[in-house]
Amino acid sequence: AQLALSFNQMAAHLEQTETMRRQLIGDVTHELRTPLTLIQGYASLLGSIVKENKDASDLIQGIVTGERRLLDVVNNMVDVSKIDNQALLVRKSAISVYLIVKIVHNEFKVALQERKILLSVTELEGLPDIQADPELLGKMFRQMIGNAIKYTPDGGSITIQGKKLCASEAGWDGKEAVEIEIIDTGIGIDPAYHEVIFDKFYQMGPVELHSSGKTKFKGGGPGLGLAIARGIAQAHGGRIWVESPGHNEETFPGSRFHVLLPVGN
Ligand SMILES: Nc1ncnc2c1ncn2[C@@H]1O[C@H](COP(=O)(O)OP(=O)(O)O)[C@@H](O)[C@H]1O
Ligand SMILES: [Mg+2]
Repeated sequence: AQLALSFNQMAAHLEQTETMRRQLIGDVTHELRTPLTLIQGYASLLGSIVKENKDASDLIQGIVTGERRLLDVVNNMVDVSKIDNQALLVRKSAISVYLIVKIVHNEFKVALQERKILLSVTELEGLPDIQADPELLGKMFRQMIGNAIKYTPDGGSITIQGKKLCASEAGWDGKEAVEIEIIDTGIGIDPAYHEVIFDKFYQMGPVELHSSGKTKFKGGGPGLGLAIARGIAQAHGGRIWVESPGHNEETFPGSRFHVLLPVGN
């Protein structure tokens, strides 16, 4: 009985520590966001004042770029922290997945051109509207499409397709769903890692590369993208998983990410 008691106390203590840790990440990232936004504002103001001076402008551009990347990481941490605390606010309305994917596709146009990657979107127009949060779904697809670009070599291709599943196919009781697939011709993922890549801070690339841009081949990232994508899918009652025959940087077996989202509430 004594043993059970101390075990329970230990478990309670652990849970408390975990709650405090989560709270801390949430608070710290929140506090970081304000000064970062200030720096960004002042740097771009300074940029407009010295715009005739090429050297000064270039230096300020460097500050703005670095700052933007930092803000991006902090924003991702805020999202992960919300997901951890089940505090993600989902504002649902009837939305077209096709439209959201198109918007995100557009954001990556320059990167896709630079990397000579062909992204094609097929079969999404015919899908029914779904009850979902447009901003969150945009975030989810941004992470997944960003990854597909990052882990596909120059000259590769990405296909985004989707289909509607009836209730029995989706495996939910009485709910219709849409299934979106993001297929790339990239380096692929070893089956041993198909689950852990969705954990926060998990990444397989070497850390040395992490200062390079996020759409560069195997470029940097803090390993939060798929944790956010999964958190968003789950907050909508959906699922997300990956299929890939394995990792190979010579034959490029590619990866196929699936997202299943319920059509209704
Ligand atoms: N499309 C993909 N092809 C190959 N590997 C991928 C792909 N998407 C994700 N991964 C692997 O999963 C890891 C986690 O992805 P993510 O959470 O987005 O972190 P990050 O992009 O910051 O590294 C990546 O580091 C990479 O190893
Ligand atoms: Mg990523």
